[in-house]
Amino acid sequence: MKGIEFIESTRYGDDPITSDERSGVNQPELEEPPAGDLIELPDPDRETVHELDLSEAIELRESFRDYTDESLTLTELSYLLWCTAGVKWAFPEGAFRTVPSAGCCHAIDTYLAINRVKGIKPGIYRYIALDHSLETLPAYPDLQEDLSAACFDQPCVKQAAVVFIWAADAYRMIWKYAERGYRNLFLDAGHICQNLYLSVLPVECGCCAIGAFKDQGMNEMLNLDGKDRFVLYLASVGKVDQTEAEPEEQQ
Ligand SMILES: Cc1cc2nc3c(=O)[nH]c(=O)nc-3n(C[C@H](O)[C@H](O)[C@H](O)COP(=O)(O)O)c2cc1C
Repeated sequence: MKGIEFIESTRYGDDPITSDERSGVNQPELEEPPAGDLIELPDPDRETVHELDLSEAIELRESFRDYTDESLTLTELSYLLWCTAGVKWAFPEGAFRTVPSAGCCHAIDTYLAINRVKGIKPGIYRYIALDHSLETLPAYPDLQEDLSAACFDQPCVKQAAVVFIWAADAYRMIWKYAERGYRNLFLDAGHICQNLYLSVLPVECGCCAIGAFKDQGMNEMLNLDGKDRFVLYLASVGKVDQTEAEPEEQQ
């Protein structure tokens, strides 16, 4: 079985780890510098989101798939990006963010397929965490159709105001951990998505993790080679009709 081969080939044994870091290879950049136009994001403005007790947020957390047509504001999007990938403190060799990451490598980039965010043209963007801004990527015709098809036509993907797409820039992790680093990428993605699940609540949104996607289709949409850079995980996000906010049946 291929899955067990992955576990075996990424196992820690008694031998010391050999990695590029240990061999003296220079650390890669913390984040690929943007090449496209940048959109400055507003302050995440934690003061204006609804106050929500952490225990209550954990209790209320659910996968929500039925969004209204309402748009998110740019401040709400900025808040969600800060909660899931925001930089709290950067220094030359790394950056502490709002989510943990093995070895502080933070090798996951957040791409956004924006459908309805006030003041932003629908399209694909990359979050530049070190600058808290959005890089505009080349225009993508039929974005909603292709994205939905790449996610097996899941309705929540088509209905979403924004789809978060988390993609590995693997060498930022592999440099430190070699083969073991591949496991860390998936673990890191889980923490990011959990922060999204909790942070959508105070901005009256819902989200749903999406693990069912066609790898090649998603990588091609983002122009990723599928080897050094590849999509790990997605989540649909949209506004919740507050009058009908009932827990959904499990899927
Ligand atoms: C790794 C992972 C992948 C998932 N993929 C999908 C998916 O592709 N489509 C979907 O509708 N829900 C997906 N979900 C959501 C689960 O179906 C959901 O978490 C589960 O049914 C429990 O419901 P709850 O999140 O409301 O507690 C995924 C969840 C996880 C953690």
